[in-house]
Amino acid sequence: MTSVGIDAVEIHTGKLRLDLAETFAPEMGDAPEKYTKGLGLHASSFPDTYEDIVTMGANAAHRLMKRKGLEPDDVGRIDVATESAFDHSKPVSTYIGGCLEQVFDGDFHHANKGERKFACVSGTQSIDDAYNWIKAGRNRGRAALVIATDTALYARDDPGEATQGAGAVAMLIDEDPNLVELSTEQGYGSADETDFLKPQQQFPSVDGKRSVNVYLARMREALIDYERVGGKIHADDFRLGPFHTPFPGMVRKAAVLAYRHTTRDTEIEEELAEEIGRQPRSEAFDSDEAYLEALSEYTDALKETERYQAWYGRTIDPTLTLSRHVGNWYTGSVHVARVSGLKALAEAGEDAVGERLLVGSYGSGAQAEIHVETVQEDWREEIEAIDIDERLESRYELTFEEYEDVHDAHNFDEESAVEEFTVPEAEFAFDGWGRMGERKYRYVE
Ligand code: HMG
Repeated sequence: MTSVGIDAVEIHTGKLRLDLAETFAPEMGDAPEKYTKGLGLHASSFPDTYEDIVTMGANAAHRLMKRKGLEPDDVGRIDVATESAFDHSKPVSTYIGGCLEQVFDGDFHHANKGERKFACVSGTQSIDDAYNWIKAGRNRGRAALVIATDTALYARDDPGEATQGAGAVAMLIDEDPNLVELSTEQGYGSADETDFLKPQQQFPSVDGKRSVNVYLARMREALIDYERVGGKIHADDFRLGPFHTPFPGMVRKAAVLAYRHTTRDTEIEEELAEEIGRQPRSEAFDSDEAYLEALSEYTDALKETERYQAWYGRTIDPTLTLSRHVGNWYTGSVHVARVSGLKALAEAGEDAVGERLLVGSYGSGAQAEIHVETVQEDWREEIEAIDIDERLESRYELTFEEYEDVHDAHNFDEESAVEEFTVPEAEFAFDGWGRMGERKYRYVE
């Protein structure tokens, strides 16, 4: 069977930076630790005035194609995942294809283009589409370009404002991939939920506290569903667990539940029994409430054990490093977590070939998806080629007043004449409006 997976990745970050502890917290009247410790975030990436989902996606895709020596003829599919689209009909992939045609010889007329929507999980769904297309033999030897791009902005003074971000991840899905092979097995947890939505509006309506519980419930369902097809998961089977990361504190909550689930009935539960007892079983309780209370006490104790903390430090923490400095990128978030984790392994000089990743994607509304990835021979070269550290380092540091202005500049309902903060160079930039109300773009040398 042909192996199919992610061959290469490029990341584009919004070019502005908002420091949450130093700049945002004081204006909100919050302690800086709410951000750095509670949510686990230091900064948000923000788009400059000439950046949007198209420029960020096109810039990431351009670098990816250049680095891999690809021409438009090598790409048979361009799928964009976003929840920040500005057009109900014309997909963002057509705009991005148009941008790429400005800089490559040839065109993408032969390529199937689309746009996927299901909140943050649609980046992973687009990878699925590409995987199925290749496995079905419809690709004619071509690869698929999957681009997850979002400006994850919330209305001013919404609690979600603390978790904003903007950026794009471009991924090349191909046969015999260099980075990770995808499992055929998948698990789903999907339900009609009203926790985060954008009914004909730019900024989301969010029930923040509820969204946290919905995330946990759907992830749990997806894990159990995965086990139906992939067999029982053991916590130590995986080198990394990249999860959708709206903010690292969310993953901290999910990770302990995943650990509890995947150590149940294993030697780890037995080894921990002396210290914190065995996991409560529902049969032993008269009521659901008593059972849930005992479960919650066990989970609190589990979190404090050295065994759990060592697992968390090795499997989960490395996946959160980039997210701490960029915030939520919605569709791109879990794909940033994968790169973050693999980057940490590369920096530590680990030989990760053959290691497995347990990848947990999630989108509000709501759906979770779990699958497994296997690290491939040339993973290190692919990860080391990503220059995200330099890009994060060179972001323009916003004052609070500038942040207010640029937030307005990205608000379709506000008039704004804010000047750009940085100068576009060797990248795509927004170039005004066309005669039918379309957004136009040009490559700035
Ligand atoms: P909030 O109510 O302002 O914050 O908003 P909080 O009071 O809950 O504090 C946050 C954490 O900081 C808490 O930690 C506090 O204890 C801690 P926890 O108890 O939960 O572990 N804290 C402190 N820690 C140390 N020192 C201090 C301090 N002060 C407080 N001094 C909320 C939080 C998540 C509700 C908000 O940010 C929000 O609405 N965010 C947007 C929704 C969201 O991200 N939900 C996550 C799950 S849904 C999802 O992931 C999907 C999504 O990506 C969208 C999509 O799929 O398209 C959002």
